[in-house]
Amino acid sequence: MPYSSNTSGSRLIKRLRRLRSSPNMRELVREYEVKLSDLIYPIFIEENITNPVPITSLPGLVRIPEAQLGAEIEALNALGIRYVMPFGISHHKDNCGSDTWNSKGLLARMISTIKTVCPNMMVIPDICFCEYTTHGHCGVLKQQSIDNDATVENLVKQCINAARAGADMLAPSAMMDGQVMAIRQGLDKEGFSHVAILAHAAKFASSFYGPFRDAVACELKGDRHTYQLDYANSRQALHEAMLDEQEGADILMIKPGTPYLDILSTLRSNTLLPLAAYQVSGEYAVIKCAANIGVLNERATVLETLTGFKRAGADLIVTYYAKQFAQWQLNE
Ligand code: PBG
Repeated sequence: MPYSSNTSGSRLIKRLRRLRSSPNMRELVREYEVKLSDLIYPIFIEENITNPVPITSLPGLVRIPEAQLGAEIEALNALGIRYVMPFGISHHKDNCGSDTWNSKGLLARMISTIKTVCPNMMVIPDICFCEYTTHGHCGVLKQQSIDNDATVENLVKQCINAARAGADMLAPSAMMDGQVMAIRQGLDKEGFSHVAILAHAAKFASSFYGPFRDAVACELKGDRHTYQLDYANSRQALHEAMLDEQEGADILMIKPGTPYLDILSTLRSNTLLPLAAYQVSGEYAVIKCAANIGVLNERATVLETLTGFKRAGADLIVTYYAKQFAQWQLNE
Protein backbone atom coordinates (compact mmCIF):
# COMPACT_ATOMS: atom_id res chain seq x y z
CA MET A 1 0.00 0.00 0.00
CA PRO A 2 2.49 2.61 -1.12
CA TYR A 3 0.06 5.57 -0.91
CA SER A 4 -1.84 4.71 2.24
CA SER A 5 -2.11 7.77 4.42
CA ASN A 6 -4.15 6.36 7.28
CA THR A 7 -1.53 3.96 8.48
CA SER A 8 1.14 6.64 8.57
CA GLY A 9 -1.28 9.20 9.96
CA SER A 10 -0.56 11.69 7.16
CA ARG A 11 -3.31 14.05 6.06
CA LEU A 12 -1.80 14.90 2.69
CA ILE A 13 -4.44 14.98 -0.03
CA LYS A 14 -2.36 16.25 -2.90
CA ARG A 15 0.48 13.92 -3.70
CA LEU A 16 2.05 14.94 -7.01
CA ARG A 17 4.39 11.98 -6.93
CA ARG A 18 1.44 9.70 -7.81
CA LEU A 19 1.78 10.74 -11.43
CA ARG A 20 5.51 10.05 -11.48
CA SER A 21 5.33 6.53 -10.10
CA SER A 22 6.17 4.52 -13.26
CA PRO A 23 7.40 5.05 -16.81
CA ASN A 24 3.88 4.35 -18.12
CA MET A 25 2.32 6.86 -15.76
CA ARG A 26 4.91 9.51 -16.60
CA GLU A 27 4.38 9.01 -20.30
CA LEU A 28 0.62 9.28 -19.88
CA VAL A 29 0.87 12.79 -18.42
CA ARG A 30 3.88 14.05 -20.40
CA GLU A 31 3.13 17.48 -21.88
CA TYR A 32 5.82 17.92 -24.52
CA GLU A 33 7.72 15.60 -26.81
CA VAL A 34 10.42 16.39 -29.35
CA LYS A 35 9.99 14.78 -32.78
CA LEU A 36 12.48 14.60 -35.62
CA SER A 37 9.97 16.58 -37.69
CA ASP A 38 10.41 19.50 -35.27
CA LEU A 39 14.08 19.84 -36.18
CA ILE A 40 15.89 21.85 -38.85
CA TYR A 41 19.48 20.79 -39.52
CA PRO A 42 22.06 23.50 -40.37
CA ILE A 43 24.82 22.32 -42.72
CA PHE A 44 28.08 23.94 -43.84
CA ILE A 45 29.09 23.66 -47.50
CA GLU A 46 32.42 24.88 -48.87
CA GLU A 47 33.20 25.46 -52.53
CA ASN A 48 36.48 24.38 -54.19
CA ILE A 49 37.57 21.78 -51.65
CA THR A 50 37.88 18.05 -52.18
CA ASN A 51 37.76 16.56 -48.67
CA PRO A 52 35.46 17.28 -45.72
CA VAL A 53 37.09 19.71 -43.26
CA PRO A 54 36.42 18.95 -39.58
CA ILE A 55 35.27 22.07 -37.71
CA THR A 56 37.55 22.17 -34.68
CA SER A 57 35.21 24.26 -32.56
CA LEU A 58 32.21 22.05 -33.39
CA PRO A 59 33.47 18.50 -32.76
CA GLY A 60 31.61 15.98 -34.92
CA LEU A 61 30.68 18.52 -37.62
CA VAL A 62 32.44 19.16 -40.93
CA ARG A 63 32.45 21.56 -43.81
CA ILE A 64 31.01 19.47 -46.63
CA PRO A 65 32.78 19.86 -49.98
CA GLU A 66 30.26 21.19 -52.49
CA ALA A 67 30.81 18.13 -54.70
CA GLN A 68 29.66 15.87 -51.82
CA LEU A 69 26.53 17.86 -50.94
CA GLY A 70 24.21 15.59 -52.95
CA ALA A 71 25.48 12.45 -51.20
CA GLU A 72 25.10 14.07 -47.77
CA ILE A 73 21.52 15.11 -48.57
CA GLU A 74 20.70 11.53 -49.58
CA ALA A 75 22.14 10.30 -46.28
CA LEU A 76 20.12 12.86 -44.31
CA ASN A 77 16.98 11.95 -46.22
CA ALA A 78 17.52 8.27 -45.40
CA LEU A 79 17.73 9.23 -41.71
CA GLY A 80 14.34 10.94 -41.95
CA ILE A 81 15.58 14.53 -41.85
CA ARG A 82 13.21 16.78 -43.83
CA TYR A 83 14.53 20.31 -43.24
CA VAL A 84 18.02 21.69 -43.86
CA MET A 85 19.49 25.15 -43.44
CA PRO A 86 22.52 25.48 -45.73
CA PHE A 87 25.38 27.87 -44.92
CA GLY A 88 27.97 28.53 -47.61
CA ILE A 89 31.70 28.96 -47.09
CA SER A 90 32.56 31.26 -49.94
CA HIS A 91 35.80 31.63 -51.87
CA HIS A 92 34.28 34.60 -53.69
CA LYS A 93 34.00 37.24 -51.01
CA ASP A 94 33.75 40.95 -51.78
CA ASN A 95 32.80 44.08 -49.84
CA CYS A 96 29.02 43.56 -50.17
CA GLY A 97 28.51 39.78 -50.60
CA SER A 98 27.38 39.96 -54.25
CA ASP A 99 27.90 36.20 -54.72
CA THR A 100 24.63 35.72 -52.82
CA TRP A 101 22.55 37.25 -55.63
CA ASN A 102 24.54 35.69 -58.45
CA SER A 103 22.40 33.01 -60.11
CA LYS A 104 25.57 30.91 -60.55
CA GLY A 105 26.91 31.68 -57.05
CA LEU A 106 27.38 29.28 -54.15
CA LEU A 107 24.03 30.01 -52.48
CA ALA A 108 22.01 29.31 -55.64
CA ARG A 109 24.07 26.20 -56.43
CA MET A 110 23.63 24.72 -52.94
CA ILE A 111 19.87 25.19 -53.06
CA SER A 112 19.40 23.74 -56.52
CA THR A 113 21.66 20.76 -55.77
CA ILE A 114 19.61 19.90 -52.70
CA LYS A 115 16.28 20.27 -54.51
CA THR A 116 17.51 18.25 -57.49
CA VAL A 117 18.79 15.36 -55.39
CA CYS A 118 15.83 15.34 -53.03
CA PRO A 119 12.80 17.46 -54.01
CA ASN A 120 11.09 16.47 -50.78
CA MET A 121 13.84 18.02 -48.61
CA MET A 122 12.75 21.49 -47.49
CA VAL A 123 15.53 24.01 -47.99
CA ILE A 124 15.58 26.97 -45.63
CA PRO A 125 18.75 28.99 -46.33
CA ASP A 126 20.11 31.52 -43.88
CA ILE A 127 19.85 34.88 -45.62
CA CYS A 128 22.77 37.09 -44.69
CA PHE A 129 26.09 38.42 -45.98
CA CYS A 130 28.71 37.73 -43.33
CA GLU A 131 29.92 34.50 -44.98
CA TYR A 132 30.29 36.35 -48.27
CA THR A 133 31.88 39.68 -47.27
CA THR A 134 35.61 40.35 -46.86
CA HIS A 135 34.96 42.45 -43.72
CA GLY A 136 32.66 39.83 -42.15
CA HIS A 137 29.76 42.18 -41.43
CA CYS A 138 26.16 41.29 -42.29
CA GLY A 139 25.73 43.99 -44.95
CA VAL A 140 27.08 47.03 -46.77
CA LEU A 141 29.66 49.05 -44.82
CA LYS A 142 29.73 52.82 -45.18
CA GLN A 143 32.30 54.69 -43.11
CA GLN A 144 32.73 51.69 -40.83
CA SER A 145 29.03 51.35 -40.11
CA ILE A 146 26.30 49.29 -41.72
CA ASP A 147 24.08 51.04 -44.25
CA ASN A 148 20.67 49.62 -43.31
CA ASP A 149 18.70 50.46 -46.43
CA ALA A 150 21.41 49.54 -48.93
CA THR A 151 21.74 46.20 -47.11
CA VAL A 152 17.99 45.61 -47.27
CA GLU A 153 18.04 46.17 -51.04
CA ASN A 154 20.75 43.52 -51.35
CA LEU A 155 18.87 41.14 -49.05
CA VAL A 156 15.88 41.33 -51.41
CA LYS A 157 18.13 40.44 -54.38
CA GLN A 158 19.58 37.53 -52.41
CA CYS A 159 16.11 36.27 -51.51
CA ILE A 160 14.85 36.38 -55.08
CA ASN A 161 17.95 34.50 -56.20
CA ALA A 162 17.39 31.86 -53.49
CA ALA A 163 13.70 31.53 -54.39
CA ARG A 164 14.55 31.10 -58.09
CA ALA A 165 16.98 28.34 -57.14
CA GLY A 166 14.17 26.51 -55.34
CA ALA A 167 14.28 27.56 -51.67
CA ASP A 168 11.08 26.70 -49.78
CA MET A 169 11.52 29.16 -46.95
CA LEU A 170 14.00 31.96 -46.26
CA ALA A 171 15.61 32.78 -42.93
CA PRO A 172 16.86 36.38 -43.02
CA SER A 173 19.30 36.86 -40.12
CA ALA A 174 20.93 40.23 -40.76
CA MET A 175 18.74 42.11 -38.25
CA MET A 176 18.25 45.13 -40.53
CA ASP A 177 15.20 47.33 -39.94
CA GLY A 178 12.43 46.69 -42.45
CA GLN A 179 14.04 43.59 -43.97
CA VAL A 180 11.01 41.33 -43.65
CA MET A 181 8.62 43.76 -45.35
CA ALA A 182 11.04 44.47 -48.20
CA ILE A 183 11.71 40.75 -48.72
CA ARG A 184 7.99 39.88 -48.67
CA GLN A 185 7.20 42.59 -51.24
CA GLY A 186 10.19 41.65 -53.40
CA LEU A 187 9.26 37.95 -53.42
CA ASP A 188 5.60 38.63 -54.18
CA LYS A 189 6.48 40.93 -57.06
CA GLU A 190 8.63 38.22 -58.65
CA GLY A 191 5.96 35.53 -58.35
CA PHE A 192 7.24 33.88 -55.16
CA SER A 193 4.27 34.55 -52.89
CA HIS A 194 4.39 30.85 -51.89
CA VAL A 195 7.89 31.14 -50.41
CA ALA A 196 7.71 31.52 -46.62
CA ILE A 197 9.78 33.73 -44.30
CA LEU A 198 11.28 32.34 -41.10
CA ALA A 199 12.24 35.64 -39.47
CA HIS A 200 15.19 35.92 -37.11
CA ALA A 201 12.80 38.06 -35.16
CA ALA A 202 14.96 38.47 -32.11
CA LYS A 203 18.62 37.73 -32.67
CA PHE A 204 20.87 38.74 -29.81
CA ALA A 205 24.53 39.77 -30.08
CA SER A 206 25.88 36.63 -28.44
CA SER A 207 29.16 35.01 -27.45
CA PHE A 208 27.52 31.71 -28.29
CA TYR A 209 28.08 32.38 -32.03
CA GLY A 210 31.86 31.98 -31.56
CA PRO A 211 32.22 28.47 -33.02
CA PHE A 212 29.98 29.37 -35.99
CA ARG A 213 32.30 32.16 -37.08
CA ASP A 214 35.12 29.64 -37.03
CA ALA A 215 32.95 27.20 -39.00
CA VAL A 216 32.25 29.67 -41.81
CA ALA A 217 35.66 31.41 -41.74
CA CYS A 218 34.06 34.76 -40.96
CA GLU A 219 36.78 37.39 -40.58
CA LEU A 220 34.81 39.86 -38.52
CA LYS A 221 36.68 42.83 -37.13
CA GLY A 222 34.64 44.65 -34.52
CA ASP A 223 31.25 43.40 -33.42
CA ARG A 224 27.57 43.37 -34.39
CA HIS A 225 26.15 45.44 -31.55
CA THR A 226 24.65 48.09 -33.83
CA TYR A 227 22.34 45.56 -35.45
CA GLN A 228 21.94 42.52 -33.20
CA LEU A 229 20.01 42.92 -29.93
CA ASP A 230 21.53 43.74 -26.57
CA TYR A 231 20.99 40.63 -24.45
CA ALA A 232 19.86 42.75 -21.51
CA ASN A 233 16.69 43.80 -23.37
CA SER A 234 13.50 41.77 -23.43
CA ARG A 235 10.94 44.46 -24.33
CA GLN A 236 13.00 45.42 -27.38
CA ALA A 237 13.15 41.77 -28.41
CA LEU A 238 9.37 41.52 -28.29
CA HIS A 239 9.08 44.76 -30.22
CA GLU A 240 11.37 43.36 -32.95
CA ALA A 241 9.33 40.17 -33.13
CA MET A 242 6.00 41.95 -33.31
CA LEU A 243 7.28 44.24 -36.07
CA ASP A 244 8.41 41.18 -38.05
CA GLU A 245 4.93 39.73 -37.69
CA GLN A 246 3.37 42.97 -38.98
CA GLU A 247 5.86 43.00 -41.85
CA GLY A 248 4.70 39.59 -43.01
CA ALA A 249 6.85 36.94 -41.29
CA ASP A 250 5.38 33.43 -41.30
CA ILE A 251 7.38 32.07 -38.36
CA LEU A 252 9.24 34.01 -35.65
CA MET A 253 12.58 32.74 -34.39
CA ILE A 254 14.51 33.53 -31.21
CA LYS A 255 18.29 33.10 -31.29
CA PRO A 256 20.28 31.85 -29.38
CA GLY A 257 18.07 29.34 -27.57
CA THR A 258 18.90 28.31 -24.03
CA PRO A 259 19.72 31.72 -22.50
CA TYR A 260 16.55 33.24 -24.04
CA LEU A 261 13.74 30.90 -23.01
CA ASP A 262 12.02 33.78 -21.22
CA ILE A 263 11.74 35.69 -24.52
CA LEU A 264 10.29 32.64 -26.24
CA SER A 265 7.78 32.12 -23.50
CA THR A 266 6.61 35.76 -23.43
CA LEU A 267 6.40 35.86 -27.22
CA ARG A 268 4.27 32.68 -27.13
CA SER A 269 1.52 34.57 -25.36
CA ASN A 270 1.78 37.58 -27.70
CA THR A 271 1.39 36.01 -31.15
CA LEU A 272 -0.51 33.28 -32.94
CA LEU A 273 2.37 32.56 -35.34
CA PRO A 274 4.49 29.43 -34.99
CA LEU A 275 7.71 30.03 -33.06
CA ALA A 276 11.21 28.69 -33.56
CA ALA A 277 14.29 28.49 -31.34
CA TYR A 278 17.84 28.32 -32.68
CA GLN A 279 20.17 26.23 -30.52
CA VAL A 280 23.33 27.91 -31.78
CA SER A 281 26.88 26.70 -32.29
CA GLY A 282 28.10 27.63 -28.80
CA GLU A 283 25.24 25.74 -27.20
CA TYR A 284 26.13 22.66 -29.25
CA ALA A 285 29.82 23.04 -28.39
CA VAL A 286 29.15 23.34 -24.64
CA ILE A 287 27.23 20.06 -24.57
CA LYS A 288 29.53 18.24 -27.00
CA CYS A 289 32.75 19.21 -25.22
CA ALA A 290 31.34 18.39 -21.79
CA ALA A 291 30.14 15.03 -23.09
CA ASN A 292 33.51 14.35 -24.72
CA ILE A 293 35.30 14.70 -21.39
CA GLY A 294 32.71 12.53 -19.68
CA VAL A 295 30.98 15.09 -17.46
CA LEU A 296 27.57 15.11 -19.17
CA ASN A 297 25.37 12.39 -20.63
CA GLU A 298 25.09 13.77 -24.15
CA ARG A 299 21.84 12.23 -25.30
CA ALA A 300 19.97 13.00 -22.08
CA THR A 301 21.26 16.57 -22.04
CA VAL A 302 20.31 17.20 -25.66
CA LEU A 303 16.82 15.82 -25.12
CA GLU A 304 16.41 18.00 -22.04
CA THR A 305 17.45 21.20 -23.87
CA LEU A 306 15.27 20.47 -26.91
CA THR A 307 12.27 19.67 -24.71
CA GLY A 308 12.93 22.92 -22.85
CA PHE A 309 12.53 24.87 -26.11
CA LYS A 310 9.20 23.20 -26.77
CA ARG A 311 8.00 23.79 -23.23
CA ALA A 312 8.92 27.47 -23.53
CA GLY A 313 6.79 27.75 -26.68
CA ALA A 314 8.86 26.69 -29.69
CA ASP A 315 7.13 24.65 -32.39
CA LEU A 316 10.38 24.04 -34.26
CA ILE A 317 14.06 24.05 -33.40
CA VAL A 318 17.15 24.68 -35.48
CA THR A 319 19.88 22.48 -34.03
CA TYR A 320 23.26 21.01 -35.01
CA TYR A 321 22.10 17.93 -33.08
CA ALA A 322 19.35 17.08 -35.60
CA LYS A 323 21.40 14.41 -37.39
CA GLN A 324 22.52 12.79 -34.17
CA PHE A 325 18.95 12.92 -32.86
CA ALA A 326 17.86 11.00 -35.97
CA GLN A 327 20.63 8.44 -35.46
CA TRP A 328 19.76 8.00 -31.78
CA GLN A 329 16.13 7.35 -32.73
CA LEU A 330 17.16 4.81 -35.35
CA ASN A 331 19.32 2.90 -32.87
CA GLU A 332 16.64 2.72 -30.22
C1 PBG B 1 24.77 35.12 -39.82
C2 PBG B 1 24.60 34.07 -38.83
C3 PBG B 1 25.28 33.83 -37.62
C4 PBG B 1 24.74 32.68 -37.11
C5 PBG B 1 23.76 32.26 -37.97
N1 PBG B 1 23.66 33.14 -39.01
C6 PBG B 1 26.43 34.50 -37.02
C7 PBG B 1 26.35 35.83 -36.45
O1 PBG B 1 25.32 36.52 -36.52
O2 PBG B 1 27.36 36.26 -35.95
C8 PBG B 1 25.18 32.00 -35.87
C9 PBG B 1 24.69 30.62 -35.73
C10 PBG B 1 25.37 29.81 -34.71
O3 PBG B 1 26.17 30.29 -33.89
O4 PBG B 1 25.11 28.61 -34.71
N2 PBG B 1 24.38 36.38 -39.48
